[in-house]
Amino acid sequence: MSTQLTQTDKSVLVDIDRQHLIHPQHHPSEYDDPQIWVEGKGIYITNYEGNTYIDGLSGMWNVYVGHGRKELADAATKQLQRLAFATAYAGSSNLPAIELAETLKELIYPNIEAFYFTLGGSDATDTSIRTARFYWKAKRKPEKLKIIASKLGYHGSSVGSASATGVDEFSEGFGPRLPNFVHIESANPYRFKTTRTDVNPGVAAADLLEEAILREGADTIAAFIIEPVQGGGGGIIVPPADYFQRIREITTKYNILLISDEVITGFGRTGKWFALEHWGVQPDIVQFAKGITSGYFPLGGIGISGEIKNVLDSVDSPHRWWHGYTYSAHPVGTAVALANIRILKEEHLVERSALLGKKLLERLQVLNENKYVGEIRGLGLLLAIELVADKVTKESFPVSAGIGTQVRQQLLRRGLCTRVLGEIVCLAPPLTATEEEIDKIADIVIASINTVLSK
Ligand SMILES: Cc1ncc(COP(=O)(O)O)c(C=O)c1O
Repeated sequence: MSTQLTQTDKSVLVDIDRQHLIHPQHHPSEYDDPQIWVEGKGIYITNYEGNTYIDGLSGMWNVYVGHGRKELADAATKQLQRLAFATAYAGSSNLPAIELAETLKELIYPNIEAFYFTLGGSDATDTSIRTARFYWKAKRKPEKLKIIASKLGYHGSSVGSASATGVDEFSEGFGPRLPNFVHIESANPYRFKTTRTDVNPGVAAADLLEEAILREGADTIAAFIIEPVQGGGGGIIVPPADYFQRIREITTKYNILLISDEVITGFGRTGKWFALEHWGVQPDIVQFAKGITSGYFPLGGIGISGEIKNVLDSVDSPHRWWHGYTYSAHPVGTAVALANIRILKEEHLVERSALLGKKLLERLQVLNENKYVGEIRGLGLLLAIELVADKVTKESFPVSAGIGTQVRQQLLRRGLCTRVLGEIVCLAPPLTATEEEIDKIADIVIASINTVLSK
């Protein structure tokens, strides 16, 4: 294939794509006229036809510092030229990985002491699960194997992480989930129903974890894994204010590790460096990816508490933590992460995320006048608008109405590209957006929803 294809050749590209490329969540029906992205600058992204859009989801929730950052290209180039790869397996290390571990120690929850780097979020989930089980086995509790997760959680697409994922679509076509995964109802303030009147809904939702623990037996459970704000599966669900404190109480009481999946929420997306800070809670394991490099190089990882680190260090050599990826602590990925974190700090992007998120949430409130807008929610620059057929019953539109698709088309016509999960419009623009750009996003979203669903 020639690399000199001209505009008129898009159909040729699409043909080749259809024949030879498999995509995440693949389906050929999406390839009648797909977007072929070619370049980006700031919050904007441009397709093969030369049309430019606001990147309303920061790529795939990850391009925090915006597109086209020379500092990140330079950091990658410099490291590629100096040392593109060296193993980080036991007995070896590299300079950017050491510096990144030291940098993260200063940014993350105070109880988190040590880090293992992966390539993304799915393998970070697998690593968390394996580490939690290893920890209990090393503590002579090998029967603590089960992982409890949320029905609306998304944790990745490897066999392990898809088993933790609560959204059924990710397992249905592939045979059952692995054994030892248990799912509980999500703390979705908009839809959670409880008959309890003695406690707030946040506590009632958290108590479902205690119920599951008592049902399954605490001595069979290794960990509870949860996203602080449920993103890809839930459609940006911000839990009630008292949810996570109660979750921490329950996990501590029953000796169950708390794994915070911060693949979307880490590194400032919600207006704090890590999202459980909003509720004054520390996890035992925290996992991250996406925003650590703003997507300029694949990198993820987990951070573990001092207590877990001590156990990992205490086993004898033949019984060590037999876990490892060739590309763990990749020198280029870790160098890019360091440059990316420098930008996040120097440009005060975590604080900006809080400020701009608040502004965008306020601007969107006018949509409450639309009788099909069920809920407008968000934390930092992670927001969603849930559209419903009936505001009183909260009934969703039938899939056949194609409301989500129509809204997405209207957004595109007005110059905003983002993800619409069913009828939930998700927004997570780069943290580098200006106030004017945030206003523009609000204008486009309001006009698009009001066009498809007249008030
Ligand atoms: C919360 C969460 N965990 C894990 C993953 C999986 O990450 P990856 O796609 O990098 O494997 C994602 C991806 O969107 C995610 O949102």
